[in-house]
Amino acid sequence: MSDLFSPLTLRDCEIPNRIAVSPMCQYSCEPDGLPTEWHRVHLGSRAVGGAGIVMTEATAVEPRGRITAHDLGIWNDQQAEALQPITAFIREQGGVPAIQLAHAGHKASKTRPWDGNDPIAPDETDPDGAEGWEVISPSPDAYPPFSGDRPAMRKATQDDIEGVIDAYRDAAERSLEAGFDIAEVHAAHGYLLHEFLSPVTNRRDDDYGGSFEDRTRLLREVTVAVREVWPEDKPVFVRISGTDWLEDEFSASWDVDQSARLAADLADLGVDLIDISSGGLHPDQAAPGGPNFQVPLAEAVSESADVAVGTVGGVTEPEQADALVRNGRADLVLVGREFLRDPYFGLRAGEALEEDGAASERWPIQYRRAVQ
Ligand code: FNR
Repeated sequence: MSDLFSPLTLRDCEIPNRIAVSPMCQYSCEPDGLPTEWHRVHLGSRAVGGAGIVMTEATAVEPRGRITAHDLGIWNDQQAEALQPITAFIREQGGVPAIQLAHAGHKASKTRPWDGNDPIAPDETDPDGAEGWEVISPSPDAYPPFSGDRPAMRKATQDDIEGVIDAYRDAAERSLEAGFDIAEVHAAHGYLLHEFLSPVTNRRDDDYGGSFEDRTRLLREVTVAVREVWPEDKPVFVRISGTDWLEDEFSASWDVDQSARLAADLADLGVDLIDISSGGLHPDQAAPGGPNFQVPLAEAVSESADVAVGTVGGVTEPEQADALVRNGRADLVLVGREFLRDPYFGLRAGEALEEDGAASERWPIQYRRAVQ
């Protein structure tokens, strides 16, 4: 058996292989946060396609935390119920259903990427007529120069912060009712929790800004809240940006050393896997890109913290993914765009890597004549 197809057991959750569908926003809800046929087919196809984990897109824990009015949400019971058939289908296909719990912070209230990704004020609408809303930020004065003015942005108060923590706790409870086995806290890509982590966007001088301990406090409190309600036998992941890629631009930014330190703290709080991406905080980031460019970040975290790590970014080939696991560079390989190009990437990887007939067994029975 290839290393990519060896199971990964985290707590009592057995993940059948090391391939995960990386969370990818589909911007395809009516403005109600409910999944549509698109989500059922999109997530369902990738489950048929052999991924060990199928993770939802960034799913907002409160309406204010959506990037666009068309994002998936998990702030009410109706949304949890509507997700149940999707998690059941993923499980039927042998995959593990995972949800990414998100809050977009000052990157919320925008038009969809294909409509320009522009900030929308509360009195404006997107091209589909969905209204904008007020957004929260750790430090509005440090809002990065993204395109377009950021209207209706407010510094998060103590009440807002407590509300966000409660929203994450409630969202995790609902995710459980929806049938998910893994909850991932989204603390990457310049969204709310990352905005608090980085000194570039966090200029607060209260308990939630300043020192490493204060900047990481919100993420730690969110993690504790999620862990409180997430069952002992099920894993929690946290996605972080391993670095802002801004060392040359700012005297202080978020970097890999802080990520390694944070990962150890999160492991102590019961996090099972750190999913390491990078950047997304500031338009001046100097990210190298290319195949495996984020792998060294995962390795650095793995060396410093006793926690499983996932890597993501530029993985397109089965042999490449297998080598990452075989060489101990990551425990899990998250695949994004290659899964958009080929929903059956998992099955294809099996065909490429396995010689003992195990690969064809993995195809759904309905499709098996294609490979026999
Ligand atoms: C993304 N990405 C992303 N990341 C995340 O943490 N939550 C999300 O909801 C999204 N949404 C999203 C939508 C689309 C269309 C793309 C292409 C990407 C980032 C994604 O998960 C992944 O980290 C990157 O795409 C890099 O991996 P690949 O695509 O090189 O495998």
